Amino acid sequence: MAEEIKNIKESFKKDLEKAENKDSLENLKVKYLGRKSKISQLFSNIPNLAKQERGHWGKELNILKNKISSAIKEKLSKEVQKEEKIDLTYPAKYPQKGSIHILSSVTKEICLIFKELGFNVIEGNEVEDEWHNFSALNIPLDHPSRDAFDTFYLDLDKKDKKSGSWLLRSHTSPSQIRIMQQVDPPLAVISPGRVYRPDVVDATHSFMFYQIEGFVVGQDISFSHLKGVLLYFARQFFSQEVQLRFRPHFFPFTEPSAEVDVSCVICSQKNKQKNKERCPVCKGKGWLEILGCGMIHPNVLEACNIDSKKYQGFAFGMGVDRIIMQKYQINDIRLFYENDKNFLKQFPL
Ligand code: PHE
Repeated sequence: MAEEIKNIKESFKKDLEKAENKDSLENLKVKYLGRKSKISQLFSNIPNLAKQERGHWGKELNILKNKISSAIKEKLSKEVQKEEKIDLTYPAKYPQKGSIHILSSVTKEICLIFKELGFNVIEGNEVEDEWHNFSALNIPLDHPSRDAFDTFYLDLDKKDKKSGSWLLRSHTSPSQIRIMQQVDPPLAVISPGRVYRPDVVDATHSFMFYQIEGFVVGQDISFSHLKGVLLYFARQFFSQEVQLRFRPHFFPFTEPSAEVDVSCVICSQKNKQKNKERCPVCKGKGWLEILGCGMIHPNVLEACNIDSKKYQGFAFGMGVDRIIMQKYQINDIRLFYENDKNFLKQFPL
């Protein structure tokens, strides 16, 4: 018995030294004082000892038990004090805060500029059918953009023959159709959202990106309204000094159509044509393409049961990713979608 008590004392001493936190001290309690502990076993062995020895070893075991118990308690209270001690000079741990994604904040900023002009913000559907994405927009059946290489088709049953296959919209223009079908003119709508094209991903292409569609339908709407609205937008969004350049273009859903460039917001056209110090953003051209636009084609109005003799409209569509890349000199579209905190936390600027 004497030997056993000595062993317990020694191993407890070692264990106590090693126990450095609340949990390990609690474990020691179980190990040395618990029901299955060595001490408990020795206690239960006392009735087997010679009668005259029982009292002596019972006492010895109780002394040992009390010593162990108070040693653990003492160290435990020290640990608790240590853990609860507040060091007011310790540098604060600042909680990591999320921020609004640059694509969301710029989309909101652009929509707000149009809202001030009286436009309503309405989101369309990301899953569309061929009729809304193409046919109603006067895009002929043999148009290359309908090709499976240029559009993600969905493996779903067709709604009906007229709607054609389901797909992920390849531009926000089907929002025009959805809204014109449901709401009578006059209309002034801005419609942001994701669009999808099966492009190979590189610095300037992504299979999913963001567009903002805008359109107005009313009586006596002309190209000069379109120009005025876009100039107002560009001056609010980029700077009061910017100029716009309209280049004739072709879109099936607008006639006449144009592509619009803004004077370079980075070099302000200062080093235009100076090849030596070419602006990295406009490459010395002095202009940056920002959107496509035009007067809504009469066929598009008619597809939505709007009398094209009575009503006219204009529409425009811009790529949000590209506009942000130009404004903030971001050279890789993939940065928007990689969720790298070092990139994201730089915004809002
Ligand atoms: N939908 C066109 C595109 O994705 C942009 C556009 C919209 C052009 C409206 C004219 C009018 O490129």
